[in-house]
Amino acid sequence: MRATAKAHTNIALIKYWGKRNEELILPTNSSLSVTLDGFYTETTVQFKEELERDIFILNEEEISGVPYDQVTNYLELFRTYANRKGLFAEVNSTNKVPTAAGFASSASGFAALAGATSQALDLNLDDTALSRFTRQGSGSACRSIYGGFVQWEMGEKDDGSDSYAVPIAPQDHWDLRIAAVVLTAKEKDVSSRVGMKRTVDTSVFYDGWLESLPNDLRDIKAGIQARDFEKVGSIAEANCLKMHATTLGAVPPFTYWQDTTMSVMETVQQLRKKGILAYYTIDAGPNVKVVYLPGDEATVLQALKATNGVEEVIVSKVGEGISYK
Ligand code: DP6
Repeated sequence: MRATAKAHTNIALIKYWGKRNEELILPTNSSLSVTLDGFYTETTVQFKEELERDIFILNEEEISGVPYDQVTNYLELFRTYANRKGLFAEVNSTNKVPTAAGFASSASGFAALAGATSQALDLNLDDTALSRFTRQGSGSACRSIYGGFVQWEMGEKDDGSDSYAVPIAPQDHWDLRIAAVVLTAKEKDVSSRVGMKRTVDTSVFYDGWLESLPNDLRDIKAGIQARDFEKVGSIAEANCLKMHATTLGAVPPFTYWQDTTMSVMETVQQLRKKGILAYYTIDAGPNVKVVYLPGDEATVLQALKATNGVEEVIVSKVGEGISYK
């Protein structure tokens, strides 16, 4: 009735941006990510007969409010599946994601929670089934079950049974580096959940985004297999720009970028003009991730740190999949 799981966060090179079913978290497009070794969540779940409600402790602090509700609603999925209604758990999580940095910990958080819960209940789920469960906590989290390069297959079925992540290439396939560039942060005002819904419902650019995805996915996978960094980096960067363009066509329009976001984009473009292959990608917030090859690390880090508004740069290698203690 007790288990511990550790899962790493991931960064999408081809973005998930829109749902076709909000309750089951079914996406409008397939996406592709790389798992990061620098950011992870470790979670212990212990079910106890004597508990009258779930308890959620995050970084040694008992949590209430919205994050508590998310965890307890999510555990309810497992209780229903396992036929254990009324059996409550103590959930104890540690986030090795610099929280001040404003990086989403939901991917590693839900993956670790799903893994620990399924083990604690002895559900014997394979990774596909686990990824399906994880998806229902937060979409991008379903990719964190695997290390290396991972695709989330959107699936077609209404019940979501064919919507889960599959590994594309293992952790040791390619030694890339991903710098998480932390900017002097302001609160983000549109969450990814709200932003993607508004975009799907109202953006005049949304159809163009969707149409472009099959080619992006096909080409980036070929690039990953061939370890063609220029190809992979340029597709990822262009895909990120297209995703962010859809938000400008929404009603009302919005953007996740700040002036400092664009300063980092400019730094990366300048690096490329000097022959250094570095590419950026941005999720539903102002921070930027920069992908580059190990040999260019010193030059890339120096340029990023010298950019206006950059508070911190945290380097990750390609990370591993979920593990248990
Ligand atoms: C821009 O997975 O956080 O990071 O499914 O509503 O929990 P929910 O959304 P979430 O969205 C991630 C969006 C993204 C792109 C990506 O990671 O693919």
